[in-house]
Amino acid sequence: MTSQTDTATDKNRVIIFDTTLRDGEQSPGCSMNLDEKLRVAKALEDMGVDVIEAGFPIASNGDFEAVREVACTIRNSTVCGLARAARKDIDRAWEALKDAAQPRIHSFLSTSPLHMKFKLQMEPKDVHQAVIDSVSHARNLCPDVEWSPEDGSRTEHDFLCRCVESAIKAGARTINIPDTVGYAVPDEFAALIAMLFNRVPNIDKATISVHCHNDLGLGVANSLAAVQAGARQIECTINGIGERAGNAALEEIVMALRTRHDRMPYTTGVKSEHIMKVSRLISAITGFSVQPNKAIVGANAFAHESGIHQDGVLKNAATYEIMTPESVGLHRSTLVMGKHSGRHAFREKLKELGFALGDNAVEDAFKRFKDLADRKKDVYDEDIIALVDDEARANDRIKFVSLQVVAGSKGPQLADLELEIDGQVRDIQARGNGPVDATFNAIKKLVPNAARLQLYQVHAVTAGTDAQAEVTVRLEENGKTVNGQGADADTLVASARAYVNALNKLMVKRAKTAPPETSARGAISA
Ligand code: KIV
Ligand code: ZN
Repeated sequence: MTSQTDTATDKNRVIIFDTTLRDGEQSPGCSMNLDEKLRVAKALEDMGVDVIEAGFPIASNGDFEAVREVACTIRNSTVCGLARAARKDIDRAWEALKDAAQPRIHSFLSTSPLHMKFKLQMEPKDVHQAVIDSVSHARNLCPDVEWSPEDGSRTEHDFLCRCVESAIKAGARTINIPDTVGYAVPDEFAALIAMLFNRVPNIDKATISVHCHNDLGLGVANSLAAVQAGARQIECTINGIGERAGNAALEEIVMALRTRHDRMPYTTGVKSEHIMKVSRLISAITGFSVQPNKAIVGANAFAHESGIHQDGVLKNAATYEIMTPESVGLHRSTLVMGKHSGRHAFREKLKELGFALGDNAVEDAFKRFKDLADRKKDVYDEDIIALVDDEARANDRIKFVSLQVVAGSKGPQLADLELEIDGQVRDIQARGNGPVDATFNAIKKLVPNAARLQLYQVHAVTAGTDAQAEVTVRLEENGKTVNGQGADADTLVASARAYVNALNKLMVKRAKTAPPETSARGAISA
């Protein structure tokens, strides 16, 4: 349970507010379906995140359902839903949140001169009144209300102070100051927070939060500077995903506070050992792979290439490591099992890796594990993770069955494919300009679609030529993008699985009937 007392009594406790499912999911290509959102929410709860922003309920029926499901499932973290400063937005958010153990409504309205004039086309006095009305309305429904002045870092100070004071008076418990366009620099942003503490008379009645975008690569630095100036909530996302250049990265914030406790004596409730697992989950679901040199979670973050460094680390790890790989949940790849391993050992391994699967899903994953172990000498934890991620698609309407491809320099390349579509197995042959093209042409023949292939990406799950390939396929249709993933020791099978996964997601997207309020999504530029 988020320890309210912890955060209330420990003045150095920083509340971690994760917005991966809202601001993160909002970025192009990052969309997740309901099951995926639930998996992410559970992983965030297990990791000890205090607040999970689960979505923007009025944006679409899909967003509403996702927030409702997360609200009904999560018991130990506060579940938050975003709403514009309009009664219908706030009512819809409350409808989605009302069964949460700890619900929070997060309402926002732009306050910068630029946004008020061009985006809202409202006078400052009307914006100020809308702040009071919206927060009061939200507070009548929900005891925990957060208010954000969008584009707060570019808002005129007098007006910002007036709006913050009124929002607190109207009942907001948390005031979140966004650097919506990632324009601030650390000393300036810290001064803005200090200014609010100096000038807003009732500031002690609220927790001050910050929400920093990363357009200049300063999201984390700005967030930490704000904490040093008195902020006690940071809004962030896993792997820093989010609109444009993304949001401040949760893992960097948590590890910076932990590693440099000497300079920043603040704590969070995050169990940092979960970081790698959650990071991998997000990149597997969204298809946004983490750059190798990314701080904390990049593949090279704990790798030592130069001989001098390796020698130093062997003598004493602290020579070149400021934190241990174990502290972020990174363990040396362990050989899990071979082809003689049984169901029991497989189940135990799934448990150890943090997967809670039903019997049917375990059985399907076990079959694929056996198949992999037949073809691949060493099976590592990463292989199991990729395989289970791939297997967690039991509800898909289109399922991969088999693939036979004629490839090589003598051509023509030919794919012979079987798919199960709505329970019926169908097969087809297709040619192409190379084996991947032939495979995708075969899928298109069985599932005709006009989606544009935006990205085709292959990465090896482990080292070695027998490594599993993890493929990401990004498709675009009428401005909507989806990412599909597939894993297999055969790159072409992984490619077919990824394409099929993307098509399933596209169908879910199409099927979502969006109400007229869908334009709410467009109303936030962040
Ligand atoms: O960046 C931003 O301003 C936002 C708000 C909705 C908090 O995401
Ligand atoms: Zn944002």
